[in-house]
Amino acid sequence: MNFSDSEIVASIMKDNDYALAADISQADVIFVNTCSIRDRAEKRVRNRIQEFKSLKKHNKSLVVGILGCMAERLKLQLLEEEKFVDMIVGPDAYRDIPKLLTKVESGQKGVNVLLSQEETYSDLNPVRLDSNGVTAFISIMRGCQNFCSYCVVPLTRGKERSRDASSIIQEAKGLFDKGYREITLLGQNVNSYKDENGYNFATLLKKVALINPLLRIRFATSHPKDISDELLDTIAAHHNICRSIHLPVQSGSRSILKLMNRKYDREDYINRIDAIKKKVADCAISTDIISGFCDETEEDHRQTLSLMKYAAFDFAFMFKYSERPGTHAAENMQDNIPDNIKSRRLEEIIALQKDLSLKSNNKDIGKTFEVLVESFSKRSKEFVSGRNSQNKMIIFPQKDFKPGDYVQVKVTACTSASLKGEAV
Ligand code: 5AD
Ligand code: SF4
Repeated sequence: MNFSDSEIVASIMKDNDYALAADISQADVIFVNTCSIRDRAEKRVRNRIQEFKSLKKHNKSLVVGILGCMAERLKLQLLEEEKFVDMIVGPDAYRDIPKLLTKVESGQKGVNVLLSQEETYSDLNPVRLDSNGVTAFISIMRGCQNFCSYCVVPLTRGKERSRDASSIIQEAKGLFDKGYREITLLGQNVNSYKDENGYNFATLLKKVALINPLLRIRFATSHPKDISDELLDTIAAHHNICRSIHLPVQSGSRSILKLMNRKYDREDYINRIDAIKKKVADCAISTDIISGFCDETEEDHRQTLSLMKYAAFDFAFMFKYSERPGTHAAENMQDNIPDNIKSRRLEEIIALQKDLSLKSNNKDIGKTFEVLVESFSKRSKEFVSGRNSQNKMIIFPQKDFKPGDYVQVKVTACTSASLKGEAV
């Protein structure tokens, strides 16, 4: 999401006659797009901006702006703590950046942290950053109002709002015409997508899938409480909607899910896993897991491990609980699991996932997949790499393949992180 937001900022800057600097040392303006999701993310931003502070010593007119969730969360406090910073801009105020830059040029600070109920940045001329020319992100909605008790996102990104379907479809068509072959539709909770003309996520997805059978579609993130049968049927009906669903579970324990305010329980989640496996053949499922949430017992933790085994996740993002100021959990619950216990549980979760990923990859040996080539392998030009529909990276020997080609690849070997194969 932040990567896509940086592209939104880049397109606003481009429309105002700014260009990307080839190197940070040549920049007149530096923006850092920030994340507040865990304390560690914020610490990394604090470290990174010290670099900009030293650049400013050599170039007095250099403008430094902090954008995104940390700007929204800390507001003017950030200016007090980091005096060299010139601009603070929240996630809904990027259109104001050119005006704020003029203010900074006149010697003032540029601040806008207003949240909006409407802004979806739907009418921009998109700019792609660090592009491989094959895969791209399209933001389809902003904000979140699920208020999971641990999560800062509803506070930093505001109310949920959907971008109109026609501008999304137009952007996807434009990408396909430029040679892109895979787009990922993005939102904090794509299943609650709903535009003013009556599109829901399933109908939007179908419309995007019909642009061209050679355009692959991915999406993230789905909330388990509203991943509908209609959506699963839509995926099953279109070959180019990828067989890969990211479905964050967070915990396998009924009582922890309740404390987290996730609005589903263990059985509901299992029901959705069963529905995916029944309706969408060969669908990979990935997840997010938080270890050591408030009051989590060893039994709760075992419930998480057992659910992981039941779902047989292909991949997972796994985190230690990090208390975020202002959230319901921070204000009403005790962050009472000692750090060493959080770490031990997290290690057990990571070890189990490694095992599950390896098992999942082992099952692919001998199978043939359609792979979209994304790039030449980092290690050697003699290999290319790309993903299959299940979002697994496959590396295979070069035979004049180029990014954007679809190649049938037979898997010959694997690790827990990737597959190796040969074109057939
Ligand atoms: N602590 C740890 N992990 C968190 N996430 C969100 N908030 C927190 C937090 N306070 C994780 C969730 C979410 C992912 C994007 O980040 O697993 O799905
Ligand atoms: Fe955060 Fe929950 Fe919204 Fe995801 S659904 S962004 S975890 S509040």
